[in-house]
Amino acid sequence: MAQSVQADRKVLRVLSGEALSPPPAWMMRQAGRYLPEYRETRAEAGSFLDLCYSPDFAVEVTLQPIRRFGFEASILFSDILVVPHALGQDVRFVEGEGPRLDPMHGRAEFERLRRADDPAIFTHLEPVFETVRRLRADLPPETTLLGFCGAPWTVASYMIGGRGTPDLAPARALAEGDTALVDALIDRLVTVQTAYLVRQLRAGADAVQIFESHAGSLPKAVPLASDTVEPVGDVSESALPETRAIDALSRWSFRPIARMIAGIRAEVPGAKIIVFARGSGLDGHARVVPETGADAVGVDWAVDLAALRARVPASTVTQGNVHPDTLIEGGPALDAAVDAVLAATRGLPHIFNLGHGITPQTPVAHVEQMLARLRRR
Ligand code: CP3
Repeated sequence: MAQSVQADRKVLRVLSGEALSPPPAWMMRQAGRYLPEYRETRAEAGSFLDLCYSPDFAVEVTLQPIRRFGFEASILFSDILVVPHALGQDVRFVEGEGPRLDPMHGRAEFERLRRADDPAIFTHLEPVFETVRRLRADLPPETTLLGFCGAPWTVASYMIGGRGTPDLAPARALAEGDTALVDALIDRLVTVQTAYLVRQLRAGADAVQIFESHAGSLPKAVPLASDTVEPVGDVSESALPETRAIDALSRWSFRPIARMIAGIRAEVPGAKIIVFARGSGLDGHARVVPETGADAVGVDWAVDLAALRARVPASTVTQGNVHPDTLIEGGPALDAAVDAVLAATRGLPHIFNLGHGITPQTPVAHVEQMLARLRRR
């Protein structure tokens, strides 16, 4: 019974390796300010965090884009920053400016965070699990329900810098300076967020996406990998452990994500996981599945999807990657962008999406145009 219901969930089928034509679709940030009904509920709910922590409102805004557009996947309405909030850091959303956290300058702030085994973390996040439970009951059975969280580096960069500074300079400086502290923070996020995604899956999420939105701003320096022993004395470069050669993307992003994925699958065998490593380039995107063990790679708009498909095995599941600005533009440019995604992924397992979140100024009619182009026979 459960099997036959699941078989109708097209996004889940693609995540298992099937190629579907047309590919199933959803959009990052599909519940958001470009929708008048979202703006209405948002005004009623109060602050953005009130909206995230109120299952009634969170369920409503999650369902809005499904009702309007019939996307094949629904993504839980919440934010990646509810996790630092649950760890005890102050988090606010400033109207028109974005998130603000009390920045973490060093060990003193780290020591004040809740420990990974503090049950208060998940008491704080209980409204999120309640939202997932209600969503699974309210969604059409054929809609795949996605849970999510931020990748450890992306969440850490907000926790350290207090905001998404353009170049993430504070996070990079700390990562290049007190690497042990950044390792400790990333470790805590790996542990807590592994448990967080396991709980979302147990509450009814069919699959989860890990957002590494700041993969493009990793420190340039290549620090010694945390799992190697510091060599003592004067050792020649060649005598250093092999892991010395790993790059920042592996050390700070892909390895922590790989630990999360292994931890999730140990608790929920066969859990389906998408990793979106924005700004990691063609090379980084090609490494996501082999290095993290993800089931699918979310492709950002800066990557040439055809070039990526030529680089990775045909069995690799991709997701993406229409430029959000092309969706704003609409018209022939949008049709051409949809066609390009279809041409690059014909006969291959692919989930149609944008290459980053939809922006508030996007006309709703352009989303309709995009889906009509995608679904035409
Ligand atoms: O519909 C969905 O995609 C689900 C909900 C969702 C939100 N944030 C809602 C939101 C998801 C999956 C996120 C993830 C998220 N949050 C990321 C990773 C994805 C990405 O965009 O790269 C990041 C980096 C954040 C942190 C964050 N939250 C920022 C930087 C901002 C401000 C930017 C903005 O658009 O205002 C937010 C606020 C936010 N999260 C909004 C929404 C709908 C807008 C706030 C509002 O309604 O006032």
